Amino acid sequence: MVQNDRNMEKEIIEKRQGEVLVQKGITKNVKKLFLESYGCQMNFSDSEVVASILHNEGYNTTTQPEEADLILLNTCSIREKAEQTIRKRLSQFNTVKKQKPYLVIGVLGCMAERLKTKFLEEEHLVDLVVGPDAYRDLPNLLKDTEDGRSAINVLLSKEETYADISPVRLGGNGVTAFVSITRGCDNMCTFCVVPFTRGRERSRDPHSILKECRELVENGYKEITLLGQNVDSYLWYGGGPKKDFYKAGELQKATAVDFAQLLDLVATACSGARIRFSTSNPQDMHEEVLHVMAKHENICKYIHLPVQSGNTAVLQRMNRRHTREEYMELLDKIKKIIPDCAISHDMISGFCGETEEEHKDTLSLMEYAKYDFGYMFAYSERPGTPAHKNMKDDVPVEIKKRRLTEIIDLQQKLSLERMRSYTQKVHEVLIEGTSKKSEKQWYGRISQNAVAVFPKTENTKIGDFVKVWIKDCTSATLIGEIV
Ligand code: SAH
Ligand code: F3S
Repeated sequence: MVQNDRNMEKEIIEKRQGEVLVQKGITKNVKKLFLESYGCQMNFSDSEVVASILHNEGYNTTTQPEEADLILLNTCSIREKAEQTIRKRLSQFNTVKKQKPYLVIGVLGCMAERLKTKFLEEEHLVDLVVGPDAYRDLPNLLKDTEDGRSAINVLLSKEETYADISPVRLGGNGVTAFVSITRGCDNMCTFCVVPFTRGRERSRDPHSILKECRELVENGYKEITLLGQNVDSYLWYGGGPKKDFYKAGELQKATAVDFAQLLDLVATACSGARIRFSTSNPQDMHEEVLHVMAKHENICKYIHLPVQSGNTAVLQRMNRRHTREEYMELLDKIKKIIPDCAISHDMISGFCGETEEEHKDTLSLMEYAKYDFGYMFAYSERPGTPAHKNMKDDVPVEIKKRRLTEIIDLQQKLSLERMRSYTQKVHEVLIEGTSKKSEKQWYGRISQNAVAVFPKTENTKIGDFVKVWIKDCTSATLIGEIV
């Protein structure tokens, strides 16, 4: 009887939900959204929030731009080349629009925020311009475009974290997922456009983070990466930007949650899954985080620790708030507390005024760090940044390029050394998919983030943790077999 009542109750709820869905047009979901993301992981994570918002407006995603009613590009402004790539892509979509005048084309993300109305006034490539904090306004903005007008919202927010929105997981493998924990950045590195395009730093409510992580694990996800421009700076004290923490009440201060505590909570709540995080800013990385990493087996032993330069004077010009020596001390501390920890970096060659000696310091720091991996770039001046306003982009392109090549060559040598150190051992690997090179091989990652490939066996599938004997390697891949 009780069971029957429950069933009836369930039916009524489902019917009501169904009616609401029909009212909203969701069950029909006839409209098609083509959503393409560029740049950092945060952009890919934001796109999943956008897909969720638009799903409720009757849009399903498609991988075919030709069949789309709405094309959105989630854009990146970090280097000039990124913007050029996106402009080319927009021109291609404009040719599609010529045959399909009802097609709406929009830009989201950092380029939308940087160029604002310029996109509509000068470039005539888009109908819709939406900055990273304005995605909740997308349904209204889309209505504005219905009669052929253009629409824009590029307001930045001090509070928005999209905490309550359940992202639609796009194009994933059902095993690894990103969960954003902070938005924006307060660091003001002089070369960087992010503080201008993504606004003030704010942290997301830990309850909503834990809820999202738990749901992922319940749905079979095996690896969660906590995301933020500067995760170590995470601080929840009841809302609001980090810079206003000093104004918070005594109780709020006493019950505040920092990154070490959040990491501890997530690792405990998701004991069946691996936890990763990115990005760590050296000046904000506290020892406590390292102890939490050492304490939990399911927190991967890998830190992405961008340094940008190995020379203290360059670091100062970049407004990075640590010296070469302090960074080296941090590396020592990491190796002491987590001896098997892998470390990667971001590096910029040819920043304003960089001398040959200063560049050599970068190379020697890399040798000292023995980095596993690196993301390496030639300096690209970004309009509106402090470096653009106050410094001269005076290192000639050829020199920037030559220095970058030296940095990349050295990293390749270091990567090979690190990869060799993982061979002749058994590692736990999470199977993420079929290797791009062979249908017969799986690929996955070891805790230290290095990619391993190995032959498929009968009872293994995507999402399994397997023990793999690593017998060989290249500078980019470990080669092994399941034991
Ligand atoms: N804290 C962020 C950094 C985002 S930008 C994070 O989550 O990773 C990523 C990297 O791009 C930076 O670390 C820096 O190495 C590089 N970068 C940023 N601005 C740049 C510029 N103007 N020219 C070249 N590289 C740049
Ligand atoms: Fe950019 Fe520096 Fe923040 S690189 S994202 S301003 S930490």
